[in-house]
Amino acid sequence: KPLVFSGVQPTGNLHLGNYLGAIRKFVALQENNDCIYCVVDLHAITAQLVHDDLRGQIRSIAAAFIASGIDPKKHIVFNQSAVPQHAELAWIFNCVARIGWMNRMTQFKDKAGKDRENASLGLLAYPSLMAADILVYRATHVPVGDDQKQHLELARDIAQKFNIDFQEKIRATGTGVDMVVGEEKIHGYFPLVEPLIDGPAPRVMSLRDGTKKMSKSDPSDLSRINLMDDADDIARKIRKAKTDPEGLPGEIEGLKDRPEADNLVGIYAALADRTKADVLAEFGGQQFSVFKPALADLAVHVLSPISGEMRRLLDDTSHIDAILRDGGERARARAGKVMADVFDIVGFLR
Ligand code: TYM
Repeated sequence: KPLVFSGVQPTGNLHLGNYLGAIRKFVALQENNDCIYCVVDLHAITAQLVHDDLRGQIRSIAAAFIASGIDPKKHIVFNQSAVPQHAELAWIFNCVARIGWMNRMTQFKDKAGKDRENASLGLLAYPSLMAADILVYRATHVPVGDDQKQHLELARDIAQKFNIDFQEKIRATGTGVDMVVGEEKIHGYFPLVEPLIDGPAPRVMSLRDGTKKMSKSDPSDLSRINLMDDADDIARKIRKAKTDPEGLPGEIEGLKDRPEADNLVGIYAALADRTKADVLAEFGGQQFSVFKPALADLAVHVLSPISGEMRRLLDDTSHIDAILRDGGERARARAGKVMADVFDIVGFLR
């Protein structure tokens, strides 16, 4: 049975990339799946140790989940540090994963920059904790933006190595299941996770430069639409978004080598739950002076109810805190069962 897991870091303000690449997909997946959505506060201290208002940031991500339409009663919403099994399994995965695997992660190389010797050990081990987040529930499907693809491949490598290295123990303890991986049938404990990256906006780009991804750390606020931006800010940023002099093409092929146009069409499609082809069928041949106001209206229509509801939820934190407490309790119960199996498989004495 499919089980969906994903996480968002409580660092900086959420932007349209986080919303379209991740949170909007979380909402859609609730319909037909059991889902677990996590505010990954342990990950938040890997790049920067001390934060001004970490608690406020954690609540703000949880509020964004709820305001976007995630149902915390039917599904689980919690913060990572409330479930110690994440860190516990991450330690075991630190012993499964190889240093070479971690050194190859492009996000580590980007975040560590030139002075790699001085990056925290946590930043290097980050993907191992991420694999533990998912696999401590034996989750099978992970909705994320395109930038997390390499981390999910690593989670598959870790699961695979664990399954192979411990295969005798997994059989002996009767904890495993038969699974099909590609063509091959294996008996393993951890599933090989499937990334869910598709959709019209898997990688939302900066509004100032269509070759850079929209990110929390871009110094220009004009490069991104924040979830908390008001209608005027949204309209202004879209009006100022970089474009080329041509109008919109009638077909997808016409977006080739036009990263800024492609980005805006992808954003429109994702916000409207339509395909890019469908959007071009409507706007093909039009100038950006027509398309941009339509995009701004749509973005305001989708985002302003969410930011309004977030403000309301954050006004009195007791509601969000109760949701996180309840989610944490249910998550601990599920993670505890998996860790009991893992202790048996590894051979720790309880
Ligand atoms: P984070 O907090 O950086 O981002 C949260 C989600 O937003 C997506 N995203 C984007 N999608 C499209 N376009 C963009 N410009 C864009 N920017 C960000 C990210 O892909 C992500 O889905 N490592 C993760 C958090 C994490 C996690 C996990 C995710 C920790 N454990 C387990 C899944 C499963 C991260 O830093 O996301």
